[in-house]
Amino acid sequence: MSEYSFLKPFTFKHQAIQLKNRIVIPPMTTRLSFEDGTVTSDEIRYYQERAGGVGLFITGTANVNPLGKGFEGELSVADDRFIPGLSKLAAAMKTGGTKAVLQIFSAGRMSSSKILRGEQPVSASAVAAPRPGYETPRALTTDEIEATIHDFGQAVRRAILAGFDGVELHGANTYLIQQFFSPHSNRRTDEWGGDRDKRMRFPLAIVHEAEKAIAATANRPFLLGYRISPEELEEPGITLDDTLALIDTLKATKIDYLHVSQSDVWRTSLRQPNNPAIVNKVIRDHVAGAFPIIVVGDVKTPADAEKAAQAFDLVAIGHELIREPHWVQKVLDHDEKAIRYQIAPEDLDELGIAPTFFDFIESISGGAKGVPLTTALADDH
Ligand SMILES: Cc1cc2nc3c(=O)[nH]c(=O)nc-3n(C[C@H](O)[C@H](O)[C@H](O)COP(=O)(O)O)c2cc1C
Repeated sequence: MSEYSFLKPFTFKHQAIQLKNRIVIPPMTTRLSFEDGTVTSDEIRYYQERAGGVGLFITGTANVNPLGKGFEGELSVADDRFIPGLSKLAAAMKTGGTKAVLQIFSAGRMSSSKILRGEQPVSASAVAAPRPGYETPRALTTDEIEATIHDFGQAVRRAILAGFDGVELHGANTYLIQQFFSPHSNRRTDEWGGDRDKRMRFPLAIVHEAEKAIAATANRPFLLGYRISPEELEEPGITLDDTLALIDTLKATKIDYLHVSQSDVWRTSLRQPNNPAIVNKVIRDHVAGAFPIIVVGDVKTPADAEKAAQAFDLVAIGHELIREPHWVQKVLDHDEKAIRYQIAPEDLDELGIAPTFFDFIESISGGAKGVPLTTALADDH
């Protein structure tokens, strides 16, 4: 039904960039890249298949330096030699007027010496993630911190040269940027750690480095997004109050959007189970229009998307856009009955999903969300 509000175009406040609708594909690592992070043709096919319908398409995360690698087969933007492959990826994602954003990160302590080919993972401090099997990282030196910030700037420059419409700084999901903000992983006593303001220094330095790279290199409108996880379960861990303080600081930067990473758009606080407030609404009210927010988490049907679009600026759909690459086109064609909510192994080739990616999705989804890719919609939808 064309009156869905999520089908309306969206224009960013500070950039002359218009999205043709408010549906976003959130960053999803495909593990389809070559071992060194070079884009493969399988990967291009996967992205191409999903381009054209959604307004905004964000890549799976790309590491900004070799020590930042977090997964086998993830993208890399750590060197100029990756630009040709990334250019092909950006072009595929932009097919049909979709805007393409490259997500960039360092995994920090969420990597392993196996993935790093014998190197010890790094973080703000030498504190292991409190999850089974994670190694104790070594603390980055101050010189390495400066170098990492520089690497983020270089990654932004490469994204611009590759033809993307923007970058998203991955400050969520417990990776390095979040590790500096977190009182669990950041126990530093130098200028990069300490109280909340000092723990914000690294994330903020990266935002400023990205702003500088955009000013120096982009001769066209170019988006700067920032992804957060609003709370951490770790003790001590990031609280919603900490996140609201970070948002106040981000308001003084040039970011174009905030992306709130959650498993459910309508989730309440993880840390305060008795607090009935919807986290995304608290964030939306605190942002108060300074920049748009993207919400994500368990949106599957057009009705789910419409409910979220009525309350928030942009709505990202992850798992469901893996299952149904033509979700938006089917809504536009009034063919909602044809939207696929589960996939069978025989569909994988047509969907551009390699067996390694399928196993990866099932491992993530089974573990983190309890929603295997092949699960049918719950009865209440
Ligand atoms: C296979 C897979 C890979 C993912 N990779 C990333 C990633 O690279 N960066 C990121 O910020 N989030 C990543 N996510 C999280 C998604 O962006 C999204 O927040 C999550 O899937 C919840 O949305 P959904 O319920 O619509 O799937 C990934 C999720 C999946 C299923």
